[in-house]
Amino acid sequence: MIICRTKAEMRKTVQSWKRTGETVSLVPTMGYLHEGHLSLVRTAAQRADRAVASIFVNPTQFGPGEDLSSYPRDEKRDLDLLAAEGVHAVFLPSVEEMYTTAGDTHVEVPSLSGILQGALRPGHFRGVSTVVTKLFNIVTPDFAVFGEKDYQQLTLIRQMVRDLDMPLEIIAHPTVREADGLAMSSRNVRLSPDQRAEAVVLNLALGRAETLAASGATVQEIETALRSCLTEAPSAEVKSVDIRDAETLAECSGPLDRSSVVLLAVRFGTVLLIDQRVIAPQN
Ligand code: PAJ
Repeated sequence: MIICRTKAEMRKTVQSWKRTGETVSLVPTMGYLHEGHLSLVRTAAQRADRAVASIFVNPTQFGPGEDLSSYPRDEKRDLDLLAAEGVHAVFLPSVEEMYTTAGDTHVEVPSLSGILQGALRPGHFRGVSTVVTKLFNIVTPDFAVFGEKDYQQLTLIRQMVRDLDMPLEIIAHPTVREADGLAMSSRNVRLSPDQRAEAVVLNLALGRAETLAASGATVQEIETALRSCLTEAPSAEVKSVDIRDAETLAECSGPLDRSSVVLLAVRFGTVLLIDQRVIAPQN
């Protein structure tokens, strides 16, 4: 496995593959890898001749009061996991290497970056779309794999790729869960044992949403039921419950007559957990 710490090394590596006609896939991550990330990596390896993973805790997508400094990191473990998956190269730049210039230019998808999670985390999605564009320009992948867990991020990246004619295909990967249903996340390790036990409520609420939708409940009824379901966990602070059009994230109301996505954001102490589920239209 080739470890590239500079953009130049990364470009040279990919160029040598492309010269012989090989295809390349990319899985962008912020490290502290878990089984969710590794499933994305497996999909990437299946889709292209060469699989690249990037590990970069991107400062521009964290707000002033957010967990940039405490974001968990373990480079050696991450590299061992990626090597075991047969990844061909890892891009692992420092902040100075990634942002060699003052960074005056940004990529933004305004209709998607200011809503939902974006309203709770101003500037977050601008940081994401800008760093992902930089990664695409450095690695020049034919495919890039993103998790449905970060559903708004996935939607925004797809829109950006369409709008700017970026020459690659975005592949969506379903959310990978712990045995009790909690969506895997690098942040789960920061939950206390009690919070960890309570956090399963997010997945329970999503199951409840599906049952209610099947019984003909309206968007408003489901949202209300989910809020009360989530507050059954004593340390849960419900930040948002939203049901949106699964394709555009536009608001919807009434019965679920189109493919919709339920989006949850719940805080346990200092840890913000998100989860989602796509619900097929009900007849
Ligand atoms: P990170 O949170 O490390 O996630 C990297 C990728 O793994 C994302 O596409 C995310 O959706 C996916 N992922 C995380 N947990 C998952 C799970 N339980 N099941 C399936 N996929 C999962 O998302 C980011 O990093 C950053 O914003 C990034 C795109 C790298 C830009 O900095």
